Amino acid sequence: MARILLTGGAGFIGSHTAVALLARGHEVALLDNFSNASRSVPPRLKEITRVDCPVHEVDIRDTEAVRQIFAAAAFEAVIHFAALKAVGESEANPLLYFDVNVAGTLSLLTAMRHAGIGRIVFSSSATVYGAPEHCPIAEIAPLHATNIYGRTKLIMEDMIGDLVRTGILSTAFLLRYFNPVGAHPSGLIGEAPCGVPTNLMPYLCQVAARQRDCLTIFGNDYPTPDGTGIRDYLHVMDLAEAHCAAVEVALGTHGTHAVNLGTGTGHSVMELLHAFENTTGIEIPYKIGARRPGDAPSCYADPALAKTMLGWTAKRTLVDMCRDSWRWQFLSAKVK
Ligand code: NAD
Ligand code: WQD
Repeated sequence: MARILLTGGAGFIGSHTAVALLARGHEVALLDNFSNASRSVPPRLKEITRVDCPVHEVDIRDTEAVRQIFAAAAFEAVIHFAALKAVGESEANPLLYFDVNVAGTLSLLTAMRHAGIGRIVFSSSATVYGAPEHCPIAEIAPLHATNIYGRTKLIMEDMIGDLVRTGILSTAFLLRYFNPVGAHPSGLIGEAPCGVPTNLMPYLCQVAARQRDCLTIFGNDYPTPDGTGIRDYLHVMDLAEAHCAAVEVALGTHGTHAVNLGTGTGHSVMELLHAFENTTGIEIPYKIGARRPGDAPSCYADPALAKTMLGWTAKRTLVDMCRDSWRWQFLSAKVK
C-alpha cells in the first residue's frame, strides 16, 4: 500500500485511476485546479468508493502551494495527469501549452525534488509517435511531434528522463496512452468535454443523445479496409488499472520506462459507429466529410512491453466501451 498524489486527479483519466487505486487499498490525494473538471467529481468518487480522499484545489504552476501539500503528508509517488490536451487549441495558443504543460511539470518536479519524492508516473500519449510509419507501434519507434501539444509531451518525457539519468528522480514510467474511451460502469464519472467535442466517442455520444445532428466521418478514402481511420480504443478502467500496475512496479524498480497502453487492436471509425449502434440500439446519422488535417490513416499499439513489465493487458471490449460511454452520457454528462 502506498500514498499517491494524483495531479489532474479530478479529470477524466485521473478520476478513474483514483477509483482503481482505492480499490487496491492505496491512499490517494487529488490535486486539481478544476480548469477542466467538475466540482461534482470528488463527491461522486466518494459515492463510488466510500472513501473521502483529500482534494487540493491548486495549480501545478504554484510551486510553493505544491510544496506545502508535500510537506503536510509523505507521498511515495506522484501520478502526473494535469495538462491541457486539445491539439487545435495548442496550435492556436502555444504559449499557454508551454506554460501549463512544460512549466507546470517543471514546477511539480521542483516541488517533488524539495520533498525527496523520487517516483513519477507520467501521462504521455501515442501522439509522440507523430504519423507512424507502420503499425503496431512499439516503444522504439521514432518520436516526432506534429503539433504543439505533442511537442509538449516530448519535452516533458525528456525532462523527466533527464532527472532520472541525473539521479534527481529514481523511477519514471512514461505511459503512452492510445485512445482512451468509456467510463466507470456506475455512470457517475466519465469524460465531459468543453464545447463541441473533437474526439470521436464523445461526439458519437452527443449525436446519440440528439444534442448534435449527425457525425461527420473525417475521410473514407484512407488505405484501410473500409476507408475510414483506424485507432486503438482503450477502456478508461483498463487504463486506470494499468496505472495501479505502474505505480506498484515503480515502488520496486529504478530507471525510466516508456510503455505503450493500448489493446493492440485497431478499429475503424465505421466499426466503432456500428459497435455503438449495435450496443445501444440507437441509430447514428452520419455523413462523410473531408480528411482532418494531421490525421494518420492507422494508429495502434504493440502492447507487449506493458504485459512483460507491468503484467497488464486490456480486458474490456469495444462493446464495454460503447455501453459504458453511453451510460455515462445518458445518466450524467452535460454539454459544458
Ligand atoms: P482532463 O482534462 O480530463 O484531465 C486533466 C486534469 O488536469 C483536469 O481535471 C484539469 O482541471 C487539470 N489541470 C489542468 N491544468 C492544471 C493545472 N495547471 N494545475 C492543476 N490541474 C490542472 O484530461 P484527461 O483526458 O484525463 O487526460 C489526462 C492526461 O492524459 C493529460 O496529461 C493528457 O494529455 C493525457 N492523455 C489524454 C488522452 C485522452 O485521449 N484523454 C490521450 C493521451 C494522453
Ligand atoms: C479518432 C478517429 C478521426 C472525430 C486524439 C489526439 C491524441 C490523443 C487522443 C491526447 C480518427 C475520426 C473523429 C469526428 C471522425 N489525445 N473522427 N469524426 O485523433 O486518434 O487522437 O485524441 O493525447 O493526441 O490527437 O482521436 O477521437 O479525435 O479521432 O471521423 O468527429 O475518429 O479522423 O480517425 P485521435 P479522435
